[in-house]
Amino acid sequence: MDTEKTLTAFLEEHRKENPVSFHMPGHKGRRFYEKYAPKAAALFNRLPDYDITEIPGADNLFQPETVIRRVMDRYRSLYESRETYLLINGSSAGLMAAIMTAVPPGGKLIMARNCHKSVFNGARLGNITPVYAWPEIIEEYGICGEVTAEEIERAISEAPEASAVLVTSPNYYGVCSDIEAIGQAAHRHGMMLIVDQAHGAHLPFMNERLAAEKGGADIVIDSTHKTLASFTQTAIANICSDMVDLDVFQDRLQMLESTSPSYLLMASLDLNAQILEDYGEELMKAWRENLMYFYRRYKEIPGLSLMTHPALDPTKLNLDMSSRGYSGADLEEELEKRGIYMELTTGNIAMAMTGIGNDRSDYDRLLEALAEISENAPAAKASFRCENEETPGICEAERQVNSHKPETVRVPAKAESVHYTEAEGRVSAGLIIPYPPGRPLICPGEVMDGKVLRYAFVLRQRGEKVIGMTADGFVRVGV
Ligand SMILES: Cc1ncc(COP(=O)(O)O)c(C=O)c1O
Repeated sequence: MDTEKTLTAFLEEHRKENPVSFHMPGHKGRRFYEKYAPKAAALFNRLPDYDITEIPGADNLFQPETVIRRVMDRYRSLYESRETYLLINGSSAGLMAAIMTAVPPGGKLIMARNCHKSVFNGARLGNITPVYAWPEIIEEYGICGEVTAEEIERAISEAPEASAVLVTSPNYYGVCSDIEAIGQAAHRHGMMLIVDQAHGAHLPFMNERLAAEKGGADIVIDSTHKTLASFTQTAIANICSDMVDLDVFQDRLQMLESTSPSYLLMASLDLNAQILEDYGEELMKAWRENLMYFYRRYKEIPGLSLMTHPALDPTKLNLDMSSRGYSGADLEEELEKRGIYMELTTGNIAMAMTGIGNDRSDYDRLLEALAEISENAPAAKASFRCENEETPGICEAERQVNSHKPETVRVPAKAESVHYTEAEGRVSAGLIIPYPPGRPLICPGEVMDGKVLRYAFVLRQRGEKVIGMTADGFVRVGV
């Protein structure tokens, strides 16, 4: 670990490498703006000058009437929403505001257990009790799949007094749930449906069938920074039905967001809307064609497969080269050596998150690198698949963790730190969250499971971030 390098030095070195980005944000760098918004690209030379505050004429994010209002209107018309709010504290703030709008303090929220940590935090902040719906497991990879409407119905029957349902669709790997059926189930019981579409801001333009805005959700939160062209930390909240009280939503939002919203971030939202208006169709067509090209060409690479699912957002490429002996993390490492950066690895998957800014050359570089990695698989590796009966390995560990349904008791008032090997059976005082993907493995008040703790420590040892567990394996438990 380099402890000397400054943050700016790191950014500059990374830039100079001419990296290929298959991670967030969706714009993938300067070249995209230079092509699609050449005049506005001057913004980059003027960043310090554009970094202002609420001077006369600059409007106010929390009482938008002029220039900020116009950005909101652009999104309202692009997404055909009833109202759209700009978010400068990411989808995280939008999800928390949505939860605190839909569910009163002391109320209940039906939520998928694979939600992002911001959903758990929203429930905590609003003094709301989560009632979990359990996603299906994709057995081959051990990861979470869709959340079915039947499972939502089951959770509703467990807590018919709940006020809202919240699911993530698409999930991190691109697996979408049937929003229409889930919405019908929620609405039949007078509950609002909130969809965390952080990973699918492009869907209304790319694949309407999978878009929550078109499927009857009441509030949809889209991270425009993840796959489209606004800057990191920006997102939008689309209000799609009359069930939502706009004043309440706006009030919850102003509680959660900075009182000094960055004009640079808001300008990037404006720019993203402009690019979608001017070039949206052309860009979506090119994106689709590039994906089709990749989906055709990857088959020529020995040992490479892609995870498939009937409701998969095809912009997420879940690469699997385990038949050549590479785990997802191994594959990511090999790609990084070639200047290509993935968004996430889990078990045998290395996930390339494509975005509006990836052009054909990025896909070509990825294909070339994958071909080379496949060809160079060491003989010992090539004969070993990461998963087999004798070596259950990482996918099985992931499956066990995702299938585990913990017992929940009261959140402890007092806590101490203990080594994870001594924490089994104790009550967790904090969240334990591998990041990415940001889905909590253990929540406060849950009885800790040995397998889950071990898995968290394995990730930590591999150098991954696991919030709530120190590098030497200490966690917080109740006393
Ligand atoms: C599923 C999901 N929801 C919400 C978020 C939060 O989004 P943001 O980073 O824009 O706050 C993330 C972040 O990665 C996520 O993966």
